[in-house]
Amino acid sequence: MAEAEESDPAAAAAAAAGSSPRSPRQCTGSSERPLSEEEREKLRSDRVLVSDFKQQKFELEAQKNWDLFYKRNSTNFFKDRRWTTREFDELKACREFEAQKLVMLEAGCGVGNCIFPLLEEDLNIFIYACDFSPRAVEFVKQNPLYCPERCQAFQCDLTKDDLRATVPEASLDVATLIFVLSAIHPDKMQQALENIYKVLKPGGIVLFRDYGLYDHAMLRFKSGSKLGENFYVRQDGTRSFFFSKEYLASLFHQGGFQTLVNEYVLRETVNKKEGLCVPRVFLQSKFCKCE
Ligand SMILES: C[S@@+](CC[C@H](N)C(=O)[O-])C[C@H]1O[C@@H](n2cnc3c(N)ncnc32)[C@H](O)[C@@H]1O
Repeated sequence: MAEAEESDPAAAAAAAAGSSPRSPRQCTGSSERPLSEEEREKLRSDRVLVSDFKQQKFELEAQKNWDLFYKRNSTNFFKDRRWTTREFDELKACREFEAQKLVMLEAGCGVGNCIFPLLEEDLNIFIYACDFSPRAVEFVKQNPLYCPERCQAFQCDLTKDDLRATVPEASLDVATLIFVLSAIHPDKMQQALENIYKVLKPGGIVLFRDYGLYDHAMLRFKSGSKLGENFYVRQDGTRSFFFSKEYLASLFHQGGFQTLVNEYVLRETVNKKEGLCVPRVFLQSKFCKCE
């Protein structure tokens, strides 16, 4: 479940993409993490899927479950993601000339761990930020760094509410999807991407970071949590998909995007207290809306 996975300090740091993403224990690559025989057997033997009835319930209650997540954790769960400008040069474009204002959307913004470090760093940026948890959006609006001249937070289900109701069509330079697509049912990921496509400028870019195939979190799920291939439910009802780079590229290509970068980020997270060293796998990618 989200708490068990990410409130573990080591895992939380990794899930938040860590404070030093280019640390010596991190490397990027195009191949999947190799599994040990034991890990392979664990995944092979986990064949029983959650019943259709329960699967439908998780889908119907997805918004409620994320809202309850923020009710329990308020703003204390995810760490501020201060690494985004280091990892994604596109976010720094607005620093070069005053006229280069960057207009972006943080899709699935949670309580703003990604946007507030950006607003603090860059004056020349306007951020639309949406989430389908009303509570998360409220936390964003209450943050002392929130100011309507530089940011507009709104509630929206990326898979069904047309973003153009708030964000002008073809107006964005950048959209970020940071640990969000994994929370959406695979059958609906395409809808979310189509929605984002419409509000990006031609040449606009989606910056993506999320759980990669064979991440430690995937191996930790107990039997009875599997919803489908590479898709699991946590104890709190929130769900997580683990992306292979081929799967992700195919999703974006179907949505009309072109791949710029698509690679695994492999790192080991050390939990000193428990003496554990766990392999984390993320997928970090950039996709462009063709001009
Ligand atoms: C792991 S959090 C990531 C939050 C944020 N991007 C960050 O970097 O801290 C995933 C977020 O996705 C949101 N989410 C899940 N499904 C969504 C959907 N269909 N539409 C909009 N937001 C969604 C959840 O409410 C949650 O806040």
